[in-house]
Amino acid sequence: MEFTYRDRDFYLNGEKFVVRSGAMHYFRTPKYYWYDRLLKLKECGFNAVETYVAWNIHEQQEGEYNFSGDADFAEFLDTAKRLGLFVVLRPGPYICAEWEAGGFPAWLLTYENIRLRCNDELYFSKLERWIKELMKIVVPRLITKGGNILMVQVENEYGSHGNDGVYLKRLRDLYIACGVDCLLFTCDGPEDGLVESGRIEGCLSFLNFGSDTKANMEILAKKAPDQPLMCAEFWCGWYDNWYEAHHVRSSESICNAFEPFLENGYSFNFYMFHGGTNFAFMNGASNHTVCKYVVTSYDYNALLSEAGDRTPQYYGVRDLMIKYGVDVPALTATESKKAAYGEVAFRECAALFDNLDALGSKSFSPYPMRMERLGQSYGFILYESELPVNLEDYELLLDGLADRAIVYIDGEKVGIQERGQEYEPIRFTTTDKRKKLRIFVENTGRANYGPDLLDRKGLSGVRVRWEYLNKNVMGFDNIPLPMNDLDKIEYSKVSENPLAEPAFYKGEFFVEEIADTFFKPYGFTKGFVVVNGVNIGRYYNSAGPQKTLYVPACYLKKGKNEIVVFESDGASEIKASFVDVPEL
Ligand code: GLA
Repeated sequence: MEFTYRDRDFYLNGEKFVVRSGAMHYFRTPKYYWYDRLLKLKECGFNAVETYVAWNIHEQQEGEYNFSGDADFAEFLDTAKRLGLFVVLRPGPYICAEWEAGGFPAWLLTYENIRLRCNDELYFSKLERWIKELMKIVVPRLITKGGNILMVQVENEYGSHGNDGVYLKRLRDLYIACGVDCLLFTCDGPEDGLVESGRIEGCLSFLNFGSDTKANMEILAKKAPDQPLMCAEFWCGWYDNWYEAHHVRSSESICNAFEPFLENGYSFNFYMFHGGTNFAFMNGASNHTVCKYVVTSYDYNALLSEAGDRTPQYYGVRDLMIKYGVDVPALTATESKKAAYGEVAFRECAALFDNLDALGSKSFSPYPMRMERLGQSYGFILYESELPVNLEDYELLLDGLADRAIVYIDGEKVGIQERGQEYEPIRFTTTDKRKKLRIFVENTGRANYGPDLLDRKGLSGVRVRWEYLNKNVMGFDNIPLPMNDLDKIEYSKVSENPLAEPAFYKGEFFVEEIADTFFKPYGFTKGFVVVNGVNIGRYYNSAGPQKTLYVPACYLKKGKNEIVVFESDGASEIKASFVDVPEL
């Protein structure tokens, strides 16, 4: 097949073609639901799905690749093909996307001198090996080979990050050398100077925006005189951060901004058609000025909700497609069943600090070690040390805190500090008796956006300060707690009152008929939840806005189901339930 362009138009096998694409990230939706979401995409009038590729789910350990289960990327492409959908592919390797480290595997950060997103030899050698591996799946599925991949993006919004043109060209040439012979593109925001530092010779240049469609397309027309006009990310909503309000946008507002695409025959990609979920610890953070962490839901006010339901904006967009003569298929897809399984019966509990041996292994160092240097990618890390003796009214300082620490002195909680939030200083006094220091640090998600993506986690140092005295605390036990295997925890019977210290609460709930559901840990404060062994993400009730976690039906079974809630801050009561409506 041939997909090409002349002047302002794309041509598929010689016929004029408008790309009507919608984004869905296969890594944010379980495989079980891919077909359903893609069918709904098709039945809304779209002809293509756009996805990024998340390097960090496929190469979790350096040199070991995983493309199975929910990471079966080839199957995602092929499912789209079976439905007659084309693919707009954005393999990065950097993808932004509010995803952990913008898709970079955490092990990249074990290399002390690595520099990302530039022509750094070390970085390039790592991405080169990965891209060669990935292209084994991609190249046979290109449109030029009879597959459904229409075009491939090089890097992502590079103009917002830097200006290393040599890197961009080298990356383009890598794709070409791997056999990528379809159209290549870049995309950038419409502001001055972004397109100029993000575009690459030989690649189409597109824009990303969420409003002022006509005006933005006219900007693109000036910047890119001899190519089709396409919006590579038409933002119909936005992501949420903890501590901030949930984003909503009306169908009317979306449709008003969308209509000019149809009126003028511009190509588009809805970002997002279906947002999905940041399961486990895979949310990103934006570290542009102040660090902000993305919530678990990636609902995005997309055309399908997080649970895959058609929204008013879905119908609004579909009606517009019909109005402008798009041959829209009939609606045959069904919405998933939802169930409220009610209150969870919590039967057992276990204090984290009593189970350290079951969860991680200690190593000693003079200064606290960064998570990545300990070979750990995600989760928590505990630092144990002793405070120097005979200090009066000193302040305890956590150097390079990433991201959130709960501090204990001799077992007493003395403070919580979180990057990006204001917090009270921790002051203490010691006598000639040794005092135990415990600093429990959570990696709450690596930066996916901002000038510095070398977002190493844990602590780089601990100091004590009083006026002109300012010295280091030395000698640390570092205990990585990746929390990916909770099987060895020893539980005891739960009591009425929650524990003040970090703890696991294990419970069960009964499922008569399997359906999608939402977990509401309303008595809890902050932590994460594991259902039948699957980490369904973080909750943070004291920050909000998100109050329920999406639990897809495919992670449940008939009969008794198991749930483990890890609470870091201390629950007010051990209470949670499964409801059938999300609270975002
Ligand atoms: C940019 C990026 C996307 C995403 C959006 C915001 O356009 O390219 O990956 O981060 O911003 O949701």
